[in-house]
Amino acid sequence: MPTLIDRIKERELPRHVAVIMDGNGRWAKARELSRTAGHQVGSQAAERLIRFIGRKLGLDYLTLFAFSTENWGRPVVEVDFLMDLLDRFICEKLAEFKQEGVRVVVSGEIAGLQPALQRAVVRAIEETAENDRLVLNIALNYGSRQEIVRACREIARAAVAGKLNPDTIEPDTITRLLYTAEIPDPDLIIRTGGEMRLSNFLLWQSAYTEFHFTPTLWPDFTPAELLRAISVYQERERRFGAVKESGE
Ligand code: IPE
Ligand code: IPE
Ligand code: MG
Repeated sequence: MPTLIDRIKERELPRHVAVIMDGNGRWAKARELSRTAGHQVGSQAAERLIRFIGRKLGLDYLTLFAFSTENWGRPVVEVDFLMDLLDRFICEKLAEFKQEGVRVVVSGEIAGLQPALQRAVVRAIEETAENDRLVLNIALNYGSRQEIVRACREIARAAVAGKLNPDTIEPDTITRLLYTAEIPDPDLIIRTGGEMRLSNFLLWQSAYTEFHFTPTLWPDFTPAELLRAISVYQERERRFGAVKESGE
């Protein structure tokens, strides 16, 4: 009997899966733990997923939404804990990423992070730059509207300098100026934690993305649930606004 992963791998896999890792706080609250404890266990769920995708599943791109530009509005203790957790996560996992061919890239404003975290991020990006098994894109200090504004400013500057004719601006002009310029649009976005919203995540890139919303809280998310989400995705017909050939 082929297992679910065998059946999934026989069909076309999504090239790029992006995940909004939500629900750490509620997971902790349900256990009368601090929100930070929820983030700690959440980071283990991320670790498990990256390892599974790299070793067993073989996707090309995985984006993980780790910290949004709006998350700065949380209590200082929580923000500090998250920054520290991300720093430790990136430093501690670097050897494994290098060994397993994981290339780390970051979407977001790196310059807005604490210096130690900036250094950890830059080091991980540089030391994994040659890897090609899995691209792990960490959305960190990431906001999609801010990302689009940044692209618009770049375009406006080029136009003012006389280097760009506004009539030549196409959707692709913007795509190429986003943090994700080198990454294909996500085929599948998964959001855990039960909310059915994007919360400023990949707004431009998700024009034709398939969505999977699950009430599972992030610390409880398992590779098995990822497989079920992909299996549902594989049953969908992506039309991109066109009509499926009917043979008429
Ligand atoms: C997601 O979990 C993690 C981050 C936003 C960093 P939350 O902390 O948002 O958890 P809930 O939504 O409060 O349960
Ligand atoms: C989205 O979750 C951000 C991350 C998972 C990093 P939030 O918990 O910040 O989103 P809202 O506030 O519920 O929209
Ligand atoms: Mg949340």
